[in-house]
Amino acid sequence: MLPHLRTDGTATRLVVDGEPFLILGGELGNSSMERAYLDPLWPGLEALGLNTLVAPVTWEAIEPVEGDFDWTMLDELVEDCTAHGMRLVLLWFGSWKNSMSCYGPGWVKTDTARFGRAHDEHGRAQEILSPFGKEARDADARAFAALMRRLRETDERHTVVMVQVENEIGMIPSARDHSPAAQAAFDDEVPAALVGHLTEHRDTIDAALRERWAAAGCRTQGTWTDVFGPGDATDELFMAWHFGRYVQAVTAAGKAELPLPMYTNAALIRPGHRPGQYPSAGPLPHLSDVWRAAAPDLDFLAPDIYFPDFVGWADAYVRAGNPLFVPEALRSTDASVNALYAFGAHRALGFSPFGIETIEGHAAALLRSSYDVLRRLTPLLLAHDETVGLLPPSDDQRVPHRVDIGDLVLHATYERIAAPSLADGVINEADDRAADRTRLPAGAIVVRTGPDELVVAGIGVTLTFTDPTTHATVGILACEEGTYDDGEWHRLRRLNGDQTHQGRHVRLEPGRFAIQRVRVYRY
Ligand code: DGJ
Repeated sequence: MLPHLRTDGTATRLVVDGEPFLILGGELGNSSMERAYLDPLWPGLEALGLNTLVAPVTWEAIEPVEGDFDWTMLDELVEDCTAHGMRLVLLWFGSWKNSMSCYGPGWVKTDTARFGRAHDEHGRAQEILSPFGKEARDADARAFAALMRRLRETDERHTVVMVQVENEIGMIPSARDHSPAAQAAFDDEVPAALVGHLTEHRDTIDAALRERWAAAGCRTQGTWTDVFGPGDATDELFMAWHFGRYVQAVTAAGKAELPLPMYTNAALIRPGHRPGQYPSAGPLPHLSDVWRAAAPDLDFLAPDIYFPDFVGWADAYVRAGNPLFVPEALRSTDASVNALYAFGAHRALGFSPFGIETIEGHAAALLRSSYDVLRRLTPLLLAHDETVGLLPPSDDQRVPHRVDIGDLVLHATYERIAAPSLADGVINEADDRAADRTRLPAGAIVVRTGPDELVVAGIGVTLTFTDPTTHATVGILACEEGTYDDGEWHRLRRLNGDQTHQGRHVRLEPGRFAIQRVRVYRY
């Protein structure tokens, strides 16, 4: 059975071999996917507990000569992933990769007459294929279709479970393409399909987009400036629509060969930056309505979360039923707890730090522990609807943080301790200074497995509970530390006394990941 997305109750799941599958992933660096280079790295990747590798396949590698395909790199990557028991999310580095068109084959790059470039406002050509170029779109779609056909013919075990179409599309340093074809489209009417979509979804579209449209008179006909008003925000909307239409053509061509789940990803906005200063017009939250209208064959839009506000960005991507998949995340110590948040708060399809083959030190050790916890909790996460993710809400970790789980309220505080020396577990003076810079993260995932039963897992989090419905005091009846094997609980020790502050709280110690099973009662 082909990997596909399925709605289970309130969650969207990736189904692999007929079973829901959570991606505990890692994305390879851009140039690390070739067999000879990757070969010695497999033991490290396996030791992290990854079940999925996220890796590029590039247009220049598969179609060095137009119409002449070379599948060596792809076939080897799929074979090696299969041999190492990992699934694969393939990234199609086609027309765009981080705004640029650097992965276009030489025959595309050198034929600028056939494959038109985006122009800046001074008329200078960029190394960015113009989304208004039909030749480029069709050539990309043909190559992508050939790739998906190759997978259909060779990947019998479905090692490849999803495909990302293009990578971090975005206009920079100009918010808009000023090539003649782009200018003509900008001066033309806004496509009826876009206005129709916005009209149909008027009540639920992004608030800023709705305001912009309303401020210009809620017109359903006219040029882009007539309908959305002048300015760089309109430039960005215009580009989002046209990038989206191009990606739709590529996606549709690929799905016609092999309909795996497909998505595209976004570079996020650096705080305070304007369109043109950040890679603009990509599948960003404020443009998601435009992207969904332009590219209906994409199954979802995904964020690459490198900025500190992980919660804010993850939350912004689950609007209107968009499932969360984080194909790229910073490979810091925080990745370990951000993963818990993604699966707990948003029942994510998956999580994947970038440059996974180079993760080391505390970040690697913590990710390994976090993925171990998530692997053990997977049957519970799939079986229960009530799950939450806990991350410190602000820099002030002493603020009690209130999170609802069904009719119970969790009150969380967080403890982040200095990281010990990895070498021998002893902190000497020099390590101590380094450790000041490395504080271990805090965060947890909580699953409500019954009316009075919770499974709590993570690091550096202390929890108390209240019941706002009955106002009864919620006490701890029993708390155990242990682990799960294939969904079965194995107790390590019963916790009470100092470990629960004499029955007052549940505490996941700072410095190490643990799983606890908690029964509460009311009095
Ligand atoms: C985001 C891109 O999508 C990746 O391919 C890579 O270039 C990273 N940035 C580097 O941090």
